[in-house]
Amino acid sequence: MVRKILSYPDPELKKKSQPVTIINDNTRELVRDMAETMYDAPGVGLAAPQIGVHQRVIVIDVAGQDEQPELIVAINPVIIHAEGESYEEEGCLSVPKYAANVRRHAKVVVKGLNLEGEEATWKADGLLAIAFQHEIDHLDGILFIDHISQLKRELFRRKYRRSSQEPEGNE
Ligand code: NI
Repeated sequence: MVRKILSYPDPELKKKSQPVTIINDNTRELVRDMAETMYDAPGVGLAAPQIGVHQRVIVIDVAGQDEQPELIVAINPVIIHAEGESYEEEGCLSVPKYAANVRRHAKVVVKGLNLEGEEATWKADGLLAIAFQHEIDHLDGILFIDHISQLKRELFRRKYRRSSQEPEGNE
């Protein structure tokens, strides 16, 4: 089922998510819904708190539109190694119509559980490394706009306030 994606400045997005202690049918349903919601949007990643569920679950698929889907499900993901720097443009399904360059690590190694409850390790670079860092941030209540400079954030707030007062589709 496609769920509603919460958008900034919804306070639910600022809350810290809790670790998953048991993987059961509810978890599997949550992951199914998250994947459907992400593909429907469409987006390359989604974290559970974005649909109002404060559990440490993320889904990512950075395969291009013409490629086969490659869904990554990471439960209780933790970055265990990070190196290099990147400064790429990011957006977020919870911050519609806005993009900004964000400083991230270029490569990360992430450990967590897969949907079968097995320990898994993901070695990521490029877009996938950015997606992992962006989605794991969501689990701690951090949005990509929290990483941009104060000046840019102020401009963003003004622009966002204006655009959210306009009727839908009137850009
Ligand atoms: Ni996001």
